[in-house]
Amino acid sequence: MNLLLMGLPGAGKGTQADKISEKYNIPHISTGDMFRSAIKEGTELGVKAKSFMDQGALVPDEVTIGIVKERLSKADCEKGFLLDGFPRTIAQAEALQALLSEMNQAIDHVLHVEVPEDKLVERLSGRRICPTCGRAYHVIYNPPKKEGICDIDGSALIQRDDDKPETVKNRLAINIEQSKPLLDFYEDRGYLVTVDGDQDINKVFQDIQSIIEN
Ligand code: AP5
Ligand code: ZN
Repeated sequence: MNLLLMGLPGAGKGTQADKISEKYNIPHISTGDMFRSAIKEGTELGVKAKSFMDQGALVPDEVTIGIVKERLSKADCEKGFLLDGFPRTIAQAEALQALLSEMNQAIDHVLHVEVPEDKLVERLSGRRICPTCGRAYHVIYNPPKKEGICDIDGSALIQRDDDKPETVKNRLAINIEQSKPLLDFYEDRGYLVTVDGDQDINKVFQDIQSIIEN
C-alpha cells in the first residue's frame, strides 16, 4: 500500500503518520524528518536544508527529489510506504509519478488532512518534539504523561526552530500558496481524499482507517 499524506504545517500529518505506519506496517517517510536528522548530524544536506527551513521556505526541488528517490529504493519500501510532506510542488509530484512508474508501483490514496488555518498557529506554537525519536506532542492537546518528557525514551522535549512565531507565519503562507495546485493535481487524477483533521487525534485516525480499508 502506497500512501501520501498532505496537509498544511500543523495539520497533524506526523501524528497520523506514526499511527498509520505502526498499524499497517509500512515505513513512514517524512522529508521534514530527514532534513532535521541531516541538520542534527551536520551533513552537507543538513547545512543546505537549514538555510531554507529556518526561513520557513521550501528546500529546492532537486535536493528534495534526490533524497526521496534514494529512500524509496531501499528494500523496506517494497511492501509499500507512507510519504509525509512530499510532494510539495508540482515538479516533485511529477518526479514521483515518473519514479513510481519506473518501480512499477502506483499511489493508492492521497490523504489530505484539512484543518482551518486559524487553528494551525495554536497547534504549531504548542508543539514539543522529542529530539531522540521525533515524536510530536502538544502542551494542551497531546501532552506527554510526564510534563516535558518523552513517553517513549525519557528525553527532554524541545521546540522545533521553525515553530517559533517569526517563522510560522512565513511557513504557513508559503505552504498555503503551494498546496492548491498540488491538491488539484491529485484531484484530477482521482487519488485525493479529504480527511477532517479538526477532530480528536483518534477520531481522525478512525476516519483514515475507514478510507484505507474500504
Ligand atoms: P515538515 O517537517 O514536513 O513540516 P510541516 O509540513 O510544516 O508539517 P509539520 O511537521 O509542522 O506538521 P504536521 O502536519 O506533521 O503536524 P503534527 O502531527 O506535528 O517540513 C518542515 C520543513 O522542511 C519545511 O518548511 C521545508 O522547509 C522542508 N521540507 C519538508 N518537506 C519538503 C518538501 N517536500 N519540499 C521542500 N521542502 C520540504 O501536529 C502539530 C501539532 O498539533 C502537534 O503538537 C500535535 O500534537 C498537535 N495535533 C496533531 N493532531 C491534532 C488533533 N487532531 N487535535 C489537536 N492537536 C493535534
Ligand atoms: Zn522520544
